[in-house]
Order: sequence, then C-alpha cells, then structure tokens
Amino acid sequence: MPDSKPILHNRLCDELGIEYPIFLAGMGGRNNPTPPELVAAVCEAGGMGVLGVAALDAEEIRYRIREVRRLTNRPFGVDTLMPVRLTEAAPTRSGVRHQIQKNHPDHWQFMEEFTARQGLEAHPVENEIVADNSFMRLQLDAILDEKVPLFVAALGDPGFIEERAHAQGMKLMGIAGNVRNARRQVDAGTDLVIAGGNEAGGHIGPIASFPLIPQLVDAIAPVPVVAAGGIADGRGVAAALALGAQAVWVGTAFLVADECGIPESQKQEIIDSQSTDFVVSRAWTGKPTRSFNNPMTRAWAESDLEPLEAPVQKILVEDFQQAAIDTAREELWFNPAGQVGGMLTRRRPAAEIFEDMVTGAIDVLKELQSNVRIG
Ligand SMILES: Cc1cc2nc3c(=O)[nH]c(=O)nc-3n(C[C@H](O)[C@H](O)[C@H](O)COP(=O)(O)O)c2cc1C
Repeated sequence: MPDSKPILHNRLCDELGIEYPIFLAGMGGRNNPTPPELVAAVCEAGGMGVLGVAALDAEEIRYRIREVRRLTNRPFGVDTLMPVRLTEAAPTRSGVRHQIQKNHPDHWQFMEEFTARQGLEAHPVENEIVADNSFMRLQLDAILDEKVPLFVAALGDPGFIEERAHAQGMKLMGIAGNVRNARRQVDAGTDLVIAGGNEAGGHIGPIASFPLIPQLVDAIAPVPVVAAGGIADGRGVAAALALGAQAVWVGTAFLVADECGIPESQKQEIIDSQSTDFVVSRAWTGKPTRSFNNPMTRAWAESDLEPLEAPVQKILVEDFQQAAIDTAREELWFNPAGQVGGMLTRRRPAAEIFEDMVTGAIDVLKELQSNVRIG
C-alpha cells in the first residue's frame, strides 16, 4: 500500500481488532482453498483471515491453527459445519457405499455408468471418514481447545457451542440466506451474521445479495451483517457497505491468489471463465452448490435423479472424483466458485487483491461524494 496507509475502518473493525472490514471467506474442501498461508496473508494485509476446515480431521485442524499463529499474530477465524440433522448414515465410508447400493441402486448405477463414460474406473477413497455429527464434534473440540478468536458456522447455527465459546471470549458468526435463518442465528447467540447471496461460490441460498443484505440488516439490527456473494473488488465492497452491511466476506476472488491451495488448473479455469459458467447443482454434496459447469454437473442435470441427503451424496460422487484426481483429469474436478469468477483475469498475491479492494472502495466512496449532487 502507499506510504500513508489508506483508511477504511468502522466500529466492527474495532470490535474484531482488524484494520479493514474485509474477511477472507473460510473455504473448506479437498482442493485446499484456504491454507494457513492465505489466511495469514489476509490477516497481515489488515483483514480477517478465516481458515476453512470442513474437510479436515481434528488433528489437522490443530496443526493448521498453529501454522496460522506461526505466520501472524493478528486475529483470525476458523469455519466449519455444525452438527445438524443429517440423514441416517452408516458410520463408515464402506458402510455408506453398501447403503447406497442397496437403497439407491439408480444412483449407484448412474455413477458407475458416468465414470465408465469418462473412460475411468472408480478409485475408492481410502479413508473411512464420514462427515457425520461425531466427526464434527471432534472438530469443534479442537477449535475450542485452540481458543481461536472467531468461529464461523458454515451450516447450521453455533448455538451448540455458544456458552463454551463466549466464556472463552470467542466471537461467533453464522451464515444465512434468508431472514428466518438470520433470526435463528441471532436467537442462538451469534454475534455476526453473514448474508449469503445466491451469486456466491460453494453452498448457496436462493436470494441474491442486493435484495438479501438490506432485508437482513433490517431484520436483525443491531447485530452486524457481513455481505457474502458477488464481491470481488472495491466497487462490491462499497456497494455492500451502502446496503447496510458492516463488512464483506470474500471467497472466489481469493481463489486466484498465489497463496490459495487449489490446483493451478482450477485457478486457470476460473480466470478463463465467464459468469454464466458457474452453475448451481446438488450433484456434489446434496445441497445447492455453485461451481464451474463441467461434465459431471451436466450429466447430473440430465439424469433427473433426486440428490441423496448429506452426507451420503458426497460419498456417492467422491470415488469418481478420486479417480479424476488420480488420473489428472482436471476438467472433471469439482471446482466450486461464484459468479465473480467472470471478473477475475489473473493470479496475484493475496495482499495485492486485498489492497485493491480497499483502495477501490475508498475511491468509489469519494467519487460518489463528488459525482452525485445531493441536497
Ligand atoms: C471453493 C469454495 C469452498 C467453500 N467452502 C465453504 C466452507 O467450507 N464453509 C463456508 O462457510 N463457506 C464455504 N464457501 C462459501 C464461502 O464461504 C463464501 O460464502 C462465498 O465464497 C462468498 O461468495 P463469493 O464466492 O462470491 O465471494 C465456499 C466457497 C468456495 C468458492
């Protein structure tokens, strides 16, 4: 940044101990979107870095939290799924496979045929982990033991850990795609609520950011709303603040950061894309998820199959994903990202992406004051 540091600061920044009201969205997943290096880079740039740990076991979570602390002494957050009502699933991955073969033979056959059509054979994922409630409880214990400053519930609400978290000074954040869920988050003791717009990458709600943000701001005031979905530069930051959000939660724009851990080919896919390439499908996890449109999302849409409930659908598709990864068939990989993918044109360091957002937002706010005559 220039010698005199730009200022874009509000009360929420003071409450969280950060310089700028910009979060790196906690992004979980096997493709490693938010490694400690990216989290620390955003913290060092003056924002709130958030580690996405949904796919990781408790031991790896502890390791990554310590890595973040080794790289920065600024505040940061951790994001994972909360125990929610999941469908009855066997406790092991091989058990779930048998369950699908027996109870959902059409789904099993679809995946077998699709895998063969791609010239692949399923590569069974070797671990027996099922991301069920007991797995999530162990994750939460690790996060609480490590006393991280901020916890973000990716799905469900953090009421389950509210007492323990607040007793140790941890702030709680939840994500909502509509007013009812935002109120549920607040009732559960959440300190900040993310408005998750439909244009976002990853799991999404049905309402776009422009109508969603002001509705949530009105519904849960004075609890701060953090805008997520469709923000990739300073114009998006300024717009979110104008709609009443107190900060932004940015995912896709940081996927093309040098420090982001997703494969280079996935970064390139995003850079080469247009906004319309990012489609919503329930193929990958059973829940509506926005990702790059590829042969899997297209075949699923044509199949007319109903997705299986979490966590079973993910296990249904993961052996195919493993085969695609092992054989470097990158065009078949799950690449979750949002509509702003169409705005991203190059890879660069996270600090540069961050700084452009800050200075861009300041420019927009100043220009508005001089360009719009009001009275
Ligand atoms: C690759 C990827 C993985 C994601 N994983 C998670 C996750 O594990 N937990 C979560 O709360 N949100 C997850 N999300 C959603 C983001 O937290 C965030 O809400 C979204 O990226 C914001 O919209 P944007 O992509 O337009 O910036 C993910 C998003 C992406 C693109």
